[in-house]
Amino acid sequence: MILIKFGGSVITDKSKYHTFNAEYVKNMCNEIRESGKKIIIVHGAGSFGHILAKKNNLDEGYSCPTQIPAVAQVCYDVRELNSMVVKELNNAGIPAVSVPTGSCFMMKNKKLIMKDVSVLKSLYNCGIMPVMFGDVVMDEKLRFGICSGDQIIEKLTKIFNPSRVIFVSDVDGLYDDDPQNNPNARLIKELSRSTFDKVSTDITVTDVTGGIREKIETMFRICSDSCDCVLVNGTVKGRLLSLLNGEKVMCTTIRRD
Ligand code: IPE
Repeated sequence: MILIKFGGSVITDKSKYHTFNAEYVKNMCNEIRESGKKIIIVHGAGSFGHILAKKNNLDEGYSCPTQIPAVAQVCYDVRELNSMVVKELNNAGIPAVSVPTGSCFMMKNKKLIMKDVSVLKSLYNCGIMPVMFGDVVMDEKLRFGICSGDQIIEKLTKIFNPSRVIFVSDVDGLYDDDPQNNPNARLIKELSRSTFDKVSTDITVTDVTGGIREKIETMFRICSDSCDCVLVNGTVKGRLLSLLNGEKVMCTTIRRD
């Protein structure tokens, strides 16, 4: 099976609160269906989560009562986003149901801990895709915290033992310099630890879960004890399908150690 993270940068416009990129989501769901592969999707929050979470410092846990309505609002917003993603999956012919992150996981000082994941396995064994998402999750130490889709993916690799993990984003992969400012910037096709230590990864948009640097660190961790990880652009129609079909596509791969 393959685990795929739909990044918030592709399923939403990360700079505009509550903006869903319906077209990209629809295309990716159709491509996943067409590939015929066994897949579980986790998605990020994009502008349905990061903007309000940052404004209210939710990533640092509880500090004042005014955060509480913001927690509820972010939970509401990311569930709305999740409903739209799940709807597109079902429309594409993939039976999928929402599984709120807090029903399987808790946090302890920002670290995600597994509670009861039996529902995930049961759904999957039934031929139904459980769809989890970046969310506000209760934290045993900080009362609440922000759980990213990447953290969920990392946990799911331990449960489902995937052959590959794909992170879908709005960029072609990781470049050796910022392609917006440097026309000679080159896409890194296979990323090693030593190359990564040399490249700069500036965060340009509101992101409370660490941006591209933290994502790549997660990919390295997954590669060290599970499988290859790929970063691919989901805004280009057909690219995800080509990747799933084993064709050569523009992307950045980190190979299993
Ligand atoms: C963030 O999840 C969750 C919240 C802000 C509530 P992610 O970190 O996985 O979201 P994206 O993919 O970066 O948008």
